[in-house]
Amino acid sequence: MVKITETVLRDAHQSLIATRMTTEQMLPIIEKLDNIGYNALEAWGGATFDASLRFLNEDPWERLRKIKAIAKKTPLQMLLRGQNLLGYKHYADDVVDYFVRKAIANGINIIRIFDALNDVRNIECAMNACIKEGGHAQGCICYTISPYHDLDVFVKDAKRLEDMGASSVCIKDMAGLLLPFEAYRLVKALKENVSVPVELHTHYTSGCGSMTYLKAIEAGADIIDCAISPFAMGTSQPATEPMVATLQGTEYDTGLDLKALGEIAAYFRPLREEYIKSGQMDQKVLGVDINTLIYQVPGGMLSNLVSQLKQADALDKYEEVLEEVPRVRADLGYPPLVTPSSQIVGSQAVLNVLSGERYKMITKETKGIVAGEYGKTPADVSEELRKRVLNDKEPITCRPADLIEPELDRIRSEIGRYIEQDEDVLTYALFPQQALTFFKRRQAVKYGVQGSQAEYEQKIHSI
Ligand code: CO
Repeated sequence: MVKITETVLRDAHQSLIATRMTTEQMLPIIEKLDNIGYNALEAWGGATFDASLRFLNEDPWERLRKIKAIAKKTPLQMLLRGQNLLGYKHYADDVVDYFVRKAIANGINIIRIFDALNDVRNIECAMNACIKEGGHAQGCICYTISPYHDLDVFVKDAKRLEDMGASSVCIKDMAGLLLPFEAYRLVKALKENVSVPVELHTHYTSGCGSMTYLKAIEAGADIIDCAISPFAMGTSQPATEPMVATLQGTEYDTGLDLKALGEIAAYFRPLREEYIKSGQMDQKVLGVDINTLIYQVPGGMLSNLVSQLKQADALDKYEEVLEEVPRVRADLGYPPLVTPSSQIVGSQAVLNVLSGERYKMITKETKGIVAGEYGKTPADVSEELRKRVLNDKEPITCRPADLIEPELDRIRSEIGRYIEQDEDVLTYALFPQQALTFFKRRQAVKYGVQGSQAEYEQKIHSI
């Protein structure tokens, strides 16, 4: 029997409509989702936290509590970027520990934890906290293709995650690069070497997603991530219903009821229409992106390169940059191309081509990778680049967060007067600016202050 994790509340709308689905749009369908019998509902984490605050004026913690109040049977799952939590830098261990504790206390059951470099040391703190709080810690490996990455590397990573206490492991194919027959080999190798359940996460970007799932299932994959059809395919996940129908009556039968899934799809279909009409769901993300297959880079990275080159009025250099990307990636030790490494590699490749000389200019972020500030790269950084960036200095080899002092007390004292719940400290730790704006607006509403933002601020200061 294969299990399905439904991503419509997190990855599906993150991938198709820039994470703009509101809590209000989710709540009416939660009870039905809860009754389906999914392995889990992926409902939190990733970009949803940032987007709630920044674009929707919503408290992400409140969303989690509201979903949990209705979804009483199905485990709720979140995506966590290891030591980066839901932000874009490394946080101190005390922040990571407290965040995980609060996520579980507010209703999360399964935490999928990954690191952009697959440096498991960046996963460790969050995983330990999750285990300590009684959560299901899922260790996650970013799938990528390079001369360095072979089955042995992925198996070794998975075994390490299992040894660290992961209750399951996940292969995260964020760009849709994992092709069906390769998925078969990979999952087979994992199943032969780890004893915890293996989950596969892919995107439909290259048009191969459901074939990849089918071959992975034949190789023994325990869980696959799907999205209900109106929010599936394109840059999102393969659709739930066709996978359920395909497996029906076989040894892999999911046991899920197609008619009940039809009711869920019927709820989301008008929402999809709305997003297409408003232009938020762009037809471009719904098709098949051949370039992803040809260049083995995520679709989002290709469009970033195009816009960077357009800005520099150098679109004619596109092919050259595409050829430079794998070379920069090799120099940096073959990092998987996922946030933030995809942007770092892309920007450096553009600089290398436009300046007419490789590494004539080196970005701060490229230097950071070379200096070990993001963790250990899969393979070694090229000797030449290392010398150029560091001269004779040594890169750091410890876990980057070992160099960060505890932060929680300082943060607490900084925003003390805005705190209305324990979780506010974490919101501020992750996104100080957005959090402050949100807190001020919240207080303004609470105390009935009306008028301009400036008036709000003045009056709030006098409360
Ligand atoms: Co994803």
